[in-house]
Amino acid sequence: MSSDQRFFDFLKERIGLDVASVGEALIERAVRQRTTAQQALTADEYWHTLQGSRDEQQALIEAVIVPETWFFRYPESFATLAKLAVARLAEIKGMRALRILSLPCSTGEEPYSIAMALFDAGFAPHQFKVEGLDVSPLSVERAKCAVYGKNSFRGQLTDFRERHFTVKDERYHLNERVREQVHLQVGNLLDPALLANEPPYDFVFCRNLLIYFDQATQRQVFEVLKRLTHVDGVLFIGPAEGGLLGRLGMRSIGIPQSFAFSRHSEPEPVPLPAFIPTPLPMRQSIHSVAPPRRSEPFTRVAPVISPDKPSAATSDSATLLASIAALANEGKSTEARAACEQYLRNHEPVAQVFYWLGLLSDVVGDALQAQGFYRKALYLEPQHPEALMHLAALLASQGDAAGARRLQERAARSERAADSERKR
Ligand SMILES: C[S@@+](CC[C@H](N)C(=O)[O-])C[C@H]1O[C@@H](n2cnc3c(N)ncnc32)[C@H](O)[C@@H]1O
Repeated sequence: MSSDQRFFDFLKERIGLDVASVGEALIERAVRQRTTAQQALTADEYWHTLQGSRDEQQALIEAVIVPETWFFRYPESFATLAKLAVARLAEIKGMRALRILSLPCSTGEEPYSIAMALFDAGFAPHQFKVEGLDVSPLSVERAKCAVYGKNSFRGQLTDFRERHFTVKDERYHLNERVREQVHLQVGNLLDPALLANEPPYDFVFCRNLLIYFDQATQRQVFEVLKRLTHVDGVLFIGPAEGGLLGRLGMRSIGIPQSFAFSRHSEPEPVPLPAFIPTPLPMRQSIHSVAPPRRSEPFTRVAPVISPDKPSAATSDSATLLASIAALANEGKSTEARAACEQYLRNHEPVAQVFYWLGLLSDVVGDALQAQGFYRKALYLEPQHPEALMHLAALLASQGDAAGARRLQERAARSERAADSERKR
């Protein structure tokens, strides 16, 4: 089947999926699968079926989404959440339960990790509530079942499993106490009426979704996220998504590897907050495990990132950059690194790729290598905002407060300059 713009447009409109972020091959494959399942003979015939059936529309969406997730993904973010939650509860004087949102929640590992992290930090059940939403009813149903296989436990630290799960027939059943903290429902981040009557949340997790949107859609959903995040709240995102928030007026709270941003009502540039040299209590490799997983069409576009066989798609540097971002966010750091190296072999070096290599080294704890890559990124693009921010965070965590501050000031200056440029 040749590329069929109708299907790309449909998915963009319904769930925001930008074909460039995943490549046409992925969507074509999903359409082929669904065409066969519907016993349609042509693309036109399948298109007709799709138009007339909400169930089929949902089935096509299920065939293209990436449900990839696991417990305590980016573990530092949960350690940070626990600390911030203690402070926030004191701030609101315990007058109400903390409100936390996980969107997209996929099969539940993220919202349940939030609940486990807060229980482990000493919170009582009445002190917090977690809401989980995802566009995939299938994923939400699985989340509600709360029964997991080994694939959902990928970090080196799995002591929480002993505390919060019961093993039956080699499956891990989440304990009732954690399940009761989390309310799950189907929801689409593109729906303008999403959670419209809900008060804002103290903490919002929106991780590994924005990377699949184009810039216009990112801006649109950013407004929704802003509405959902309390003015004194914190938004947690995926490692690849920080640059966007910076541009849209949110500020990193400066805790390395937490990917946490505070909300500012005015997108006026202000100096970056001082980076807090927080010890990283739960460092973990994102590349250690590559277990089998359920149907994940996004990950089957291997030729797009194969370092040995550059395809037509890889010749497009933008596509390859998007693939690197997607791979890293799916925890496939080996493939992401290979794609970076492939990029550097076949294209002019760009700061973004060195920044990515820095981030990949940073996440596995190789601070020295990470520094080298961030510095190369800054050599090529002295004001690269994420490289500045991450190198500053790294220096701060190593006790080089002066070096960190210089970089923060540089980032703030460059942001101010960019802002006045925009206002002209
Ligand atoms: C890679 S998972 C991320 C799960 C989790 N946040 C994490 O980082 O581990 C992406 C999820 O986004 C969901 N999704 C895709 N488009 C969506 C939309 N428009 N609104 C809500 N969820 C969406 C998919 O169903 C999928 O479960």
